[in-house]
Amino acid sequence: MSDAAPGTMPRHVAIIMDGNGRWAAKRHLPRVAGHRQGVETVRVIVRAAGELGIEYLTLYGFSSENWKRPAEEVSDLMGLLRLFIRRDLAELHQNGVQVRVIGERDHLEPDIVALIDEAETLTRDNHRLKLMIAFNYGGQSEITSAMRRIAREVRAGSIDPENITPETVSAHLDTAGVPDPDLIIRTSGEMRLSNFLLWQSAYSELVFAEALWPDFTPDELRAAIGEYRRRSRRFGATSSDDVPRGEG
Ligand code: IPE
Ligand code: IPE
Ligand code: MG
Repeated sequence: MSDAAPGTMPRHVAIIMDGNGRWAAKRHLPRVAGHRQGVETVRVIVRAAGELGIEYLTLYGFSSENWKRPAEEVSDLMGLLRLFIRRDLAELHQNGVQVRVIGERDHLEPDIVALIDEAETLTRDNHRLKLMIAFNYGGQSEITSAMRRIAREVRAGSIDPENITPETVSAHLDTAGVPDPDLIIRTSGEMRLSNFLLWQSAYSELVFAEALWPDFTPDELRAAIGEYRRRSRRFGATSSDDVPRGEG
């Protein structure tokens, strides 16, 4: 990177893509127009993340609470995920992007589940950029499902309750095997997590960008990473020198 930022690059960047509706409202357009433009931003930012050498990019596309929106908007958002996978999967694959979708699949339309399976299967051996799409995702329900799975293993006798550690919990989440996000960016000026990666964000750096998601640019991504690199991550210790380097 050209800007002289001191810290290391984040391995895992996660983004709460917010502000599509306000982007559309400002233009007197229907909300779906904002979501469509938001998909264009997804394309641009995925490309930029690959070029920046980010290893993991997680995008929050639809929360488990977004079902509370009008049926028409929910259906528009489902349609856009379909369109994104149909239109972009081949190019993502060519560019070495691995696609993984986290969240509940049970209540998604069968054709969407099939598209998700296709995307994950086709790209599973790619390693240039690992793209995780959080869709019908909620941190609380993810942790609840993990607890249910652990409880089943306890009942079956394969886990001793005394041996349950934070690593056990991590390994039962949708993000099993993925390092926790170093940096979480939320666009549109809102300052909350909205049920995103609750367990995994324990020590994430948070950066809030004013831009509405459809207006978010690679320069703003670089600026957020620059801010991340200037921060001192202590993980509860006294100085960054005390911080264990972690795996990798
Ligand atoms: C983000 O934009 C997209 C989703 C949550 C699916 P919003 O639709 O939340 O846009 P605002 O917050 O209403 O502007
Ligand atoms: C969070 O945005 C969910 C996604 C970006 C997919 P929301 O717009 O749904 O969040 P709230 O309702 O403002 O907290
Ligand atoms: Mg919003």
